[in-house]
Amino acid sequence: MQQLHVNGKLQAVDAEGDTPLLWALREQLGLTGTKYGCGIAACGACTVHIDGVPTRSCVRPISSIKPAEKIITIEGLSPNGSHPVQKAWVALDVPQCGYCQCGMVMAAVALLKEKPRPTDADIDAAITNICRCGTYNRIRAAIKAVAAGTTRTAGLNILHTDGSVA
Ligand code: FES
Ligand code: FES
Repeated sequence: MQQLHVNGKLQAVDAEGDTPLLWALREQLGLTGTKYGCGIAACGACTVHIDGVPTRSCVRPISSIKPAEKIITIEGLSPNGSHPVQKAWVALDVPQCGYCQCGMVMAAVALLKEKPRPTDADIDAAITNICRCGTYNRIRAAIKAVAAGTTRTAGLNILHTDGSVA
């Protein structure tokens, strides 16, 4: 049994110490927003924050995480999807299939915390996650929109098929 501090509370996890954090989150704690993509730290679908640092949870054994280290998953980012990055993702219709997007959001949140106005080079360096749907341009636009506080400016508005604009 191991204690993990996840999304604001200490939780008991009944798993072997070499269990990757990804599986403890998904199978022990039911936090299925964090996804399995590759299992070798290559794709970023499993990205969570540990003490604010974006971390690929598929290769992080739970025995290496102290109870005092604060883990945040996509479920813990905001109570209702109201984090500015989540709102920008919705406003700009970033996801396609969506599979990679929780990891993308977690990587983007960490980047914007460290660099509130990231350059293209900063984004390229920080967002090494893979999206098989190729949403990279919209991810970049959403990060820039959050940085500029302009998710609702005309240049970034999206006209939806129902006529609404977000
Ligand atoms: S599943 Fe962890 S990086 Fe791909
Ligand atoms: S939105 Fe489909 S993999 Fe990224």
